[in-house]
Amino acid sequence: MIFYFTGTGNSLWVARQLGAAFGESPIAVADELSRHPSGECIYDIKYGEHLILVFPVHSWGPAEMMLRFVSRMTLHGYVHQPVYAVCTCGDTCGWTDRIISGALSRRGIDLTACWSVRMPNNYILMKGFGVDSDEVRETKLLTAPNEVRAVVDAIKGVKEYRSYLIGTHPWLKSRVISRLFRHFLAGPDSKTKFHVSDACIGCGLCARACPTGTVVMQDGRPVWGRGCVQCTACINRCPVRAIDWGNITQQQGRYRHPEL
Ligand SMILES: Cc1cc2nc3c(=O)[nH]c(=O)nc-3n(C[C@H](O)[C@H](O)[C@H](O)COP(=O)(O)O)c2cc1C
Repeated sequence: MIFYFTGTGNSLWVARQLGAAFGESPIAVADELSRHPSGECIYDIKYGEHLILVFPVHSWGPAEMMLRFVSRMTLHGYVHQPVYAVCTCGDTCGWTDRIISGALSRRGIDLTACWSVRMPNNYILMKGFGVDSDEVRETKLLTAPNEVRAVVDAIKGVKEYRSYLIGTHPWLKSRVISRLFRHFLAGPDSKTKFHVSDACIGCGLCARACPTGTVVMQDGRPVWGRGCVQCTACINRCPVRAIDWGNITQQQGRYRHPEL
């Protein structure tokens, strides 16, 4: 089984590569969470099967939606089958591996291994952050397939591969900044600074792409409620660049995976 969360398509692309390698169809955790709004997400895992979680790193921790999913996930038939995490990051992950491992262990599940795959950066909602230059983006997109192949070989037991970009000061980033991010910016009651310009064509892609139902269409235009997890799907995927965040993103580039 492969479960994924994605905002702008990087993690979906990785999940699809893994799905192709193992003959599996990746399952969106955003869909699973909305199918079971407050209950358990229960799955059968057979003997000899594996579980792979694919998700972006958000503020040096796993994307909030993946943590919510894991906190509700029950595996029937779990007898220590291998469980892997593959996180996509723009730069470094801090202790994302420890946080996802802790979340799984609270469900009685052991994490077997965690890899990071470096992909183009999609975080644009804060001053000092932005998408990569064209050159960096293209280099990352060119090297990512090799990284995913190495992960596949490691899972198949063909060749050992350990690649995880921890970066500097993981304690500060993952235990302090990441917690503040999840509490104040990506929590169930979080507010947004998104707004839409007259360039909006009312296509509704932002609302369809939103994994939390925060964006709804009213009179043909998007309106943001509470509960945004800052995945940046709406702002980065808008086909006419009509969405901005406060006065931060007007001069920023946008990014979505080219195959999305
Ligand atoms: C809210 C937010 C926080 C992020 N924090 C980090 C981070 O701490 N470290 C990092 O390397 N990349 C960070 N990124 C970049 C993403 O992890 C990266 O672009 C990822 O591949 C996006 O995956 P997706 O396209 O599946 O959403 C962040 C992105 C967002 C939206």
